[in-house]
Amino acid sequence: MSEPRPASATAFRQAMRRVPTGVTVVTSLKDGEPRGITVNAFASVSVDPPSLLICVNREARSYLFISSSRIFCVNVLAGDQRLLAEHFSGKVRERQFAEIDYAIDATGAPVLGGTIAHFDCALSHEYQVGSHSILVGRVLSCSARPGSPLGYFNGGFHDFGIHVD
Ligand SMILES: Cc1cc2nc3c(=O)[nH]c(=O)nc-3n(C[C@H](O)[C@H](O)[C@H](O)COP(=O)(O)O)c2cc1C
Repeated sequence: MSEPRPASATAFRQAMRRVPTGVTVVTSLKDGEPRGITVNAFASVSVDPPSLLICVNREARSYLFISSSRIFCVNVLAGDQRLLAEHFSGKVRERQFAEIDYAIDATGAPVLGGTIAHFDCALSHEYQVGSHSILVGRVLSCSARPGSPLGYFNGGFHDFGIHVD
C-alpha cells in the first residue's frame, strides 16, 4: 500500500503560525568557543530522569557544536529580550558572544543573563526526522527566575505580559 500524501509545506507552515510558543536560545561550547541558536521547538519530556527535547536543523552551525560536544543549555528568554532572539537567529559567523552577558553552570555552555529560566543538559538521545534532529537532553542543572516570557506567534515576537515572581 502506498504512503498517505503529506500536507503541503505551505499549509503546514500556515497552521504552525497559529501555535503560540515561548522562545529560547540554545547555547553550546566546543573547543572553548561558545555558540547559540534561537529555538522555539522545545518541550519537556520526562521528570525522572529530568529530560527535555529540542529540534535543531542539521544544517545549523549549532548542530555541529551540540552533536560533537554533547552538551547544551536551553535559555528561556524574557519579554524584553527580543534583540537576543534576533541576534541568535541572525547567522552571525564569528564572535557571536562578543557583547553578550553570560555565566557558566554545570556543562560550560553559556547561561544567558536576564532570562527567566535555564536548563543545562547533557545530550542523551538523537532522532533524525527530515531536515531536523530531535535532541533529547538529560537536565543536569536548572533554575527559574521572576519575569515575563517572550512569545512567538504568527511570525512575530510578543511580550506575553504575564509576570511571575
Ligand atoms: C522564533 C524563532 C524560532 C526558531 N526556532 C528554531 C528551531 O526550533 N530549530 C531550528 O533549527 N532553528 C530555529 N530557528 C532558526 C535558527 O535560529 C536560525 O536558522 C539560525 O540562524 C541558525 O544559526 P546557525 O546556523 O548559525 O547555527 C528559529 C528562528 C526564530 C526566529
